[in-house]
Amino acid sequence: MEKRVAVLPGDGIGPEVMEAAVKVLEVVGRRFNHTFEFSYGSIGGDAIDRHRNPLPDETIALCESSDAVLLGAVGGPKWDNNPSELRPEKGLLAIRKHFDLFANLRPVKAVPSLLQASPLKEEVVREVDMIIVRELTGGLYFGEPSNHTNQSGVDTLIYTREEIERIVEKAFELARLRKGKLTSVDKANVLESSKLWRKIVDEKRKMFPDVEVEHQLVDSAAMKIITNPAAFDVIVTENMFGDILSDEASVITGSLGLLPSASVRSDRFGLYEPVHGSAPDVAGKGIANPAAAILSAAMMLRYSFGMEDEAAAVEKAVNTVFEDGCFTKDLASNQERALTTTEWTDKVVDEL
Ligand code: NAI
Ligand code: MG
Repeated sequence: MEKRVAVLPGDGIGPEVMEAAVKVLEVVGRRFNHTFEFSYGSIGGDAIDRHRNPLPDETIALCESSDAVLLGAVGGPKWDNNPSELRPEKGLLAIRKHFDLFANLRPVKAVPSLLQASPLKEEVVREVDMIIVRELTGGLYFGEPSNHTNQSGVDTLIYTREEIERIVEKAFELARLRKGKLTSVDKANVLESSKLWRKIVDEKRKMFPDVEVEHQLVDSAAMKIITNPAAFDVIVTENMFGDILSDEASVITGSLGLLPSASVRSDRFGLYEPVHGSAPDVAGKGIANPAAAILSAAMMLRYSFGMEDEAAAVEKAVNTVFEDGCFTKDLASNQERALTTTEWTDKVVDEL
């Protein structure tokens, strides 16, 4: 297959981890006979410096002519005092909105050789393999009216049938590709929008008889993510609940440098990026952990290109390198033996 990938390195360690991800994709291309064509664009602080715009038109055009987008990270102290329209994060919000990427996918999977890094007991995290599907473009964060005076503050939680249907369908399709279990998280005992959400999940389940469905209230889901996280497969939920639960779930495996994410819509186009930020404290030193970026590239192979074997090969290579005791500085127990970004990436490349 031939695929066009837009690469937006961004700021801080973004360019360093993107270089690693591209190197791994090139090897995947050679091994599996695909041609990946990479084109580079600017976003975030980098784009502000070059174009005085965190998401320039030429970056949008580049992404529009690509099959998927790989993004590093944006932000850093250099732009912290900029006015709000010249903030790096504006670029991220704008690209998600422009491409109507309404579903945010965050997998959380235990890495056998890193279980001791988890704040939870090893036996609780060992079998964890879940993915949180968060609605990203509706709900409380976008509802109108939204304002405050000195005496009162107002936010509005609205979900339309169409918004719920498309995210729920996405989650059912994912569950079908995985372990076949879907947990829909809501607050249907209190919120009207959750009652509609639950009704639509029950309608849709008729189209997916092979998927086991459960409804769970968000407070109880928050507890279960800590007490029995291995019980989950796919969790689908609205924007704010998903924001909170995905951060909660992300720390149970113990390392920010390992977590990939995807923002997708109903067709195959998607934006793939590590969960971590631009890590200005380690940027430019060649020591960033590229695992989350490489695993984000694996998600792109799976979800945008339908290349399941290729994605699994990358994930297996990453795990094998960890099992062999190879770590970057952020994870190494013996700092003297920590590998640089390039050395660690080359281990993955050798494995592939
Ligand atoms: P951060 O994720 O950049 O860093 C938190 C800590 O984890 C730092 O000590 C950092 O060195 C370490 N870390 C993170 N990823 C790492 C990696 N791959 N390898 C080694 N160490 C890693 O979050 P922080 O410090 O809160 O934010 C820094 C900047 O990044 C800010 O400007 C923030 O706005 C931006 N940011 C951007 C995001 C994005 O582009 N999606 C997400 C989160 C923050
Ligand atoms: Mg958050």
